[in-house]
Amino acid sequence: MYNKLTVEDVEVKGKRVLVRCDFNVPLNDKQEITDENRIVGALPTINYLIENGAKVILCSHMGKPKGNPVPELSLAPVAKRLSEKLGKEVVFAADDNVVGENAKKAVAEMKEGDVVLLENTRYRAEETKNVEEFSKELASLCDLFVNDAFGTAHRAHCSNVGVSALVQPAVAGYLIEKEIKFLGNAVNAPERPLVAILGGSKVSSKISVIENLLKKVDKLIIGGGMAYTFFAAQGKTTGTSLLEPDFIDYAKKMLDNAGDKILLPIDTVIAQKFDNDAPSEVVEGDIPEGWMGLDIGPKTIAMFKEALADAKTVVWNGPMGVFEMPNFAKGTNEIASMLAELDATTIIGGGDSVAAVNQAGLGDKMSHVSTGGGASMEFLEGKVLPGIDALTDK
Ligand code: 3PG
Repeated sequence: MYNKLTVEDVEVKGKRVLVRCDFNVPLNDKQEITDENRIVGALPTINYLIENGAKVILCSHMGKPKGNPVPELSLAPVAKRLSEKLGKEVVFAADDNVVGENAKKAVAEMKEGDVVLLENTRYRAEETKNVEEFSKELASLCDLFVNDAFGTAHRAHCSNVGVSALVQPAVAGYLIEKEIKFLGNAVNAPERPLVAILGGSKVSSKISVIENLLKKVDKLIIGGGMAYTFFAAQGKTTGTSLLEPDFIDYAKKMLDNAGDKILLPIDTVIAQKFDNDAPSEVVEGDIPEGWMGLDIGPKTIAMFKEALADAKTVVWNGPMGVFEMPNFAKGTNEIASMLAELDATTIIGGGDSVAAVNQAGLGDKMSHVSTGGGASMEFLEGKVLPGIDALTDK
């Protein structure tokens, strides 16, 4: 487990503090932010720094502009929303080269408690290649570096890893600290029983998670599209359901090794078309020719709920069905409602399951909703996250 210096371990007053946030938030075609969880997640660190007299310089990436100043991926809308959230001006330094004349001037003019936001760090091609020149430019703006971008912690880029090597100490913000506490305790020191719920479409993208979690959990619930590859491994027919034939043997091996730890669906909501209005049926066991599984069935929901009833820690990654279609969202919603009521530490990690609990309006009923998609997956895989690893040890 990580034991890194945090923002409270260092003197920040009067210092120019560069804070790497993950402001990679979804925007609609009017450039409006459609989900501000990541902005909200960054507020405790920013507010702490403001209140303690730091000069707060924020940076982040947005999307994948691949080294070009793509206007649709500007952080300008984030500056505006952040200003509203903080109740104070956030000066946006609109430099296509990120550390340009606007940024330098804005930083030079800062007073204690002021906030400046730099432009999208991925406007610079060096960022994702961790080229030292850009890290040096970022480092030249500050006296202290705080990394609070958990969502990007699995990347080794200039604005997290590169700059950490150049500005010492480099410390963790509250969001990273919180993510490490919840995800880390869940896998390394959980209150038991520990139950993991995995869903989503592909077994192939979850292999390392399954392998790592099987060593740690008391039960592993598998639902969503990935369950059908396990069905095939059990010798069931899967109709036109999502299937990864190359992973059937792997799924078989997992089932053989897992004893009775893995729970798979026993009934399935099926339809003939991938369409919310397609007529549906519930089947047990085999999925008939021409039909596809789109959600877990009622008996499975009851079985999964029973498996969760005495859990003390639950980690959930990936929906149980096509939750974006209301007629096939029941399995996902029922699991979300169950977790919301459960007397346990409940951790939602990963993009789709986060979207699902928020769609159900239950995000604030969970103990922790991770702001990292790929990062929380890699954490659950037991991998080292370079963005955190690069910070100064206590
Ligand atoms: C995310 O959205 O998962 C993070 O912001 C990381 O983005 P990336 O996958 O483009 O590196």
